[in-house]
Amino acid sequence: MALAPAFDDSIAVPTHVAIIMDGNGRWARARGLPRIAGHRQGAEAVRSTVRACSDLGISYLTIYAFSSENWKRPASEVDDLMGLLRLYIRRELVDLGREGVRIRFIGDRSRLDTDINRLISESEQSTMNNKGLIFTVALNYGGRQEILEAARVFAQNVRDGKHEAGDMDEQLFESYLQSKDMPDPDLLIRTSGEQRLSNFLLWQSAYTEFLFTATLWPDFTREHLEQAVHEYQRRERRYGGSGD
Ligand code: FPP
Repeated sequence: MALAPAFDDSIAVPTHVAIIMDGNGRWARARGLPRIAGHRQGAEAVRSTVRACSDLGISYLTIYAFSSENWKRPASEVDDLMGLLRLYIRRELVDLGREGVRIRFIGDRSRLDTDINRLISESEQSTMNNKGLIFTVALNYGGRQEILEAARVFAQNVRDGKHEAGDMDEQLFESYLQSKDMPDPDLLIRTSGEQRLSNFLLWQSAYTEFLFTATLWPDFTREHLEQAVHEYQRRERRYGGSGD
């Protein structure tokens, strides 16, 4: 695919891009539409972003689709989001799977409806041998919860004699995280002007480059992604230069 002029293909693209998709509600409100209309348009932006990541040669994309804190939203909005997710998995993820994308989910599945859990497992299993982009959807995910769960399981393993407490180091701890098979994100993008991590990939983003854009998520296009990658490359180039 032809890359946009702003894109520099002489410097490596980020291996792993993570995105906090924010601004769906404001996008809808600005148009006098219900919030679900913003989420629907947001799902379209997910679709095009996945393809753009594949085209750019990015290996991992991780999106924050539903946080552990999102249950605090009105029940009707939670229902709408779950309904959209069902639809998305049935329609989109099947297509993406056929295009070689490998789909994975992170987050606590215990609170999700049985049929959603089934859809999640099916999409993971049917795409597990795909060799393209590894697309991870964080669903009922919280970074602190992930870290706590890792600590709990490790403590249990110490009690069961599988480890000594002193065995713990960064590498071992990472093996207890749901992200254990992924490299840490190189670039994290948050849309809509908010500049917070909001409990996303806390452990994994220790050295990540953050990029905040005022663009609302439903308006996020391939061009925005390319601009973000270009900005990442600019930072990388400066960093490399200072080490010479
Ligand atoms: C934040 O916008 C967005 C979310 C909480 C949900 C993200 C979900 C999607 C993009 C839709 C579906 C995704 C998949 C994978 C099906 P907000 O509602 O907080 O916006 P606001 O801050 O403007 O109110």
